[in-house]
Amino acid sequence: MHQVGLILVATLVVYSSVALARQRQHARKPRKTLSRLDVDEPLRPQSYTTPARSVDAPHSVKNAVTFMHELGISMVRLSPLRRRPSIASTTILTSEEYDKKTDLMHEGRNQGGKLVVVMVGLPGRGKSYMARKVARYLNWINYATRVFNIGNYRRKLLGAEHGADFFDPNNPQGKQQRMEMAEAAMEDMLHYLGNEGEVAIYDGTNSTLERRLWIQQRIAATDGYHLLFIESICDDEAIIERNIIETKLRSPDYRGVTPEMAVADFRKRIANYRKNYEALGPADEVFSYVKVIDAGTKLVMNRIHGYLPMKILSFVSNLHIVPRPIYLSSAGESMNDLSHRLGGEAELTPRGVDYSEALSDFLAANPETSPDVLSLWYSTAASARATAKPIKSHTRVQWRALRPLEAGAYSHMTLDEFKLRHSNEHAMRRANRLWYRYPLGESYVDVITRLEPVIFELERSRAPVLLVAHPEVVRCLYGYFLDLPLLEIPKVAAPLHELIELHMTAYECVETRHCLVPIKHQSTE
Ligand code: SIN
Repeated sequence: MHQVGLILVATLVVYSSVALARQRQHARKPRKTLSRLDVDEPLRPQSYTTPARSVDAPHSVKNAVTFMHELGISMVRLSPLRRRPSIASTTILTSEEYDKKTDLMHEGRNQGGKLVVVMVGLPGRGKSYMARKVARYLNWINYATRVFNIGNYRRKLLGAEHGADFFDPNNPQGKQQRMEMAEAAMEDMLHYLGNEGEVAIYDGTNSTLERRLWIQQRIAATDGYHLLFIESICDDEAIIERNIIETKLRSPDYRGVTPEMAVADFRKRIANYRKNYEALGPADEVFSYVKVIDAGTKLVMNRIHGYLPMKILSFVSNLHIVPRPIYLSSAGESMNDLSHRLGGEAELTPRGVDYSEALSDFLAANPETSPDVLSLWYSTAASARATAKPIKSHTRVQWRALRPLEAGAYSHMTLDEFKLRHSNEHAMRRANRLWYRYPLGESYVDVITRLEPVIFELERSRAPVLLVAHPEVVRCLYGYFLDLPLLEIPKVAAPLHELIELHMTAYECVETRHCLVPIKHQSTE
C-alpha cells in the first residue's frame, strides 16, 4: 500500500514537471508579431514614425503601428484608407501616398465620420464669407473641404438674372426652382463626401425649419454624417450695409446694374426671405448648432461636441470684415543664410542689418503702418529679434510659433553636408517637402500646426500687422491667405529682404511685393 502511494506521488511529480517544461517552452516560442499583412497600416506620413528612429534608418512599419496604438486609434476604423505600398518601394514617398486626417471619428456609419456644415440666415449676413473662410482654414489644416453654394447653382443652371420677386415665398415657380437648386447642390455635396471630401459646407439661406429637416433627412438617408448648423444673425444696419456694398455689388446677380438699383433689389430680396424666416430655436433643439450674433459679438451654442466643430466655432467667432493689411517678412539675412546652414540661431549679416533699417523706414513712411497703429509680431529667433529691433510700433509681440522650421538632428549642418552625409534623407525631403520631417525636427505640416493660433489672432486683429518670421513660416502663412493647395506651400517664393503686403477684403486677398534690399544666392531649401 505504502509502495503504491510512493509510485502515485512520483508519477504526479514527473507529470507536473513535464507540463511545466512544456508551458515554459511555449512561452519562449516567438509570438506572432504584427506584420505588414496583419494590420491595415494607415497611409501615414514618414514623419509620423516615432522620433526615436535612428538617423537615416528606413521607415519602420512597427514604429508606425506603435504610434497609432499609442494614440489609441483603432486599426479597424482606419481600414478604409489605402494601404501603403511594400516597404521596399517606399524609401521615398510621393505626395499621393500620404493620407488625409484620421481624426474625423464622429457618427458616420459608412465613411468613418465626416462633417456637413449648413449655413443658415437671411441674405447679406456674411454666410458665404464665413463659409469660404472656414473652408480655406480647414483645407490649410489638411481637411479636404469644399463649399456648395446654392446661389452658384442657380446662376449656373438658371442664369443670373433673377430679381427679388424670384425669392418671394408666394412665387410658386420661384419656390420650386429654388428647391431644385438646393437638390442639385445636395447631390454634388453627397457625391463629394462619398469620395474624397471630409468636410462639406452647404451654403444657402436654409431659413425654414422645413428646409433644415429636409437636409437632415437627405443626409441621414445617405450616411450618418455629423451635421453642424451655423446661423449668422445680424441686426446691426451698419454691418449689413457694409456687407451689401462689399459683396453684393460685385455679385454676378447685379452685373450691369447701378449700385443704387442693386442695393434696392437686394433689400427687397431680404424682405422676401424675412416673410417666412425661422431662426434656429426650440424646434431645432435636436441639432448641433451655433448662432453667431452681430459678427461674433455673441454666440449661442446647442449640442456642440467634438474636436472639429469646436475648432470651427472658435474660428468663426474671430472673423470680421474690417479691411486691414497684413505684412509678411522673413528676418534679414543671417550668418546661417550666408553659409547655407540649416536652422539654429545666428546674428544678422551687414546686409541683414541694412534690410532691418530699410524695413523700419518703409513702414514709418507709410500712413497705414505708422507707429501709432502697427502691431509687430516677430519670432523668438535671434535674427528676427534683431530685424524687429529698429521698427517702431503700437504693440510688439514675440511668438515662439513664428520660429524657423526645426531641422532637428541636422541643425547647424550646411546644406552640402546634409546632402553628402545623409543623401537618403535629403532625397526624401526633395521628394516631398510638405510632409518630410527632419529626424527630431519638423515638417512644413508641423509648422502649419503650430501657426494655427497665429492665424486665429490674425483673423481677430483689426489693426495692421507686420510679421517678422522666416521663409518656411512666411510660405505657410502666405498659403493660408492666398488659399493655396497644401502641396504648393513649400514652393512659394519667399526671398529674403522682400516684404509681402496682403490686403484682405471680403472677396479676395490682394498681394504687393516690395523688394527693399536686393539679395543674391538665397538657398531654396
Ligand atoms: C440663391 O439662390 O441665391 C440662394 C438660395 C437659397 O439658399 O435660398
